[in-house]
Amino acid sequence: MAHGLRGARGDGLILGLETSCDDTCAALVTREGVVRANVIASQGLLHERYGGVVPEIASRQHLEVIDSVVDDALEHAGATLADVEQVAVTRGPGLIGALLVGVSTAKALAASRGLPLAPVDHLHGHVTASMLGDDPIEPPYLALVASGGHTFLARVDDPSEYRVLGETLDDAAGEAFDKGARLLGLGYPGGPEIDRLARDGDPSAFEFPRSQPGEGLDFSFSGLKTSLLYTLGTEPFFAHGAKKGSVPVADLAASYQRAIVDALLARLAQALEREGLERVALGGGVAANRELRERAGELGARVWVPPIELCTDNAAMIAGAARFGRAIPYPEYLDLDAAARL
Ligand code: KG4
Ligand code: ZN
Repeated sequence: MAHGLRGARGDGLILGLETSCDDTCAALVTREGVVRANVIASQGLLHERYGGVVPEIASRQHLEVIDSVVDDALEHAGATLADVEQVAVTRGPGLIGALLVGVSTAKALAASRGLPLAPVDHLHGHVTASMLGDDPIEPPYLALVASGGHTFLARVDDPSEYRVLGETLDDAAGEAFDKGARLLGLGYPGGPEIDRLARDGDPSAFEFPRSQPGEGLDFSFSGLKTSLLYTLGTEPFFAHGAKKGSVPVADLAASYQRAIVDALLARLAQALEREGLERVALGGGVAANRELRERAGELGARVWVPPIELCTDNAAMIAGAARFGRAIPYPEYLDLDAAARL
């Protein structure tokens, strides 16, 4: 009678929703942090031709697919809404129109069954993603979150909170990859393209700056793309198809990637030492980067890198983070609002 048992409340399933940017995500996670389903409907192709996420298109697409993404997640988990004891949703930060789709859907789903609703900080989700699964990281630890929208280092002592130790002062690391790729005439998102090309390139062929602003643990990546632009000459030549064969793209990609990864690793090493920590969790889309993953092993700390579908935006990390936060009882959340900034 497994089915009947699952139908009872108290099975501990948390339904998470995430729509802060360009992925429509729903997941089911248990109280223990077991991911039972993690569905991600990527809008990447829709935005590719614009070279970046178009907010209006993102919101409309979320609205289009969110119901079926939730249905898929329930089906993957072999569950129904009756098995869900709490709903969790990304409240922010992110694109306001996109967030609103998730928040309204979450409110409607939770209210339809009188369930509590946990509003989750998207960044808290990234920071605690390594606490999911069968080898969860344990606090205290250092988290590096590097994606297209954010790049920061945080210290986690208690899983319900995190303290930002340093962050990017300008571009995010993923943004540096994306902008660099664009200058090199590669597709969007640029990180995977540069990662792939870099494998055949010489990382010491070109010298790019490794900016370390100030005394603290902040990052700066905007000088890097300018430097790449100068290296390429001022003409955005690739866009016009000129000179394509004459530019050592693989060497440029490898050298550019080396500069980004060096900057991330230098700050990680500094933070570990300063904070006296021995465990590191990597997260965000840039954690998919092969060079970063490989060289993080040289930090002298134990490093957790979740599977890629838990590194990039996903709802499992949102449901997972909700385990450590406060859920609002029904019906107090009915006027809950999304927040572009938290
Ligand atoms: O976390 P994410 O999916 O979305 C947010 O930005 O929140 O991260 C996407 C970013 C993009 O900038 C993409 O270029 C980068 O992660 N990325 C990578 C790799 N895969 C994705 N950057 C470097 N190497 C990769 N393999
Ligand atoms: Zn994110």
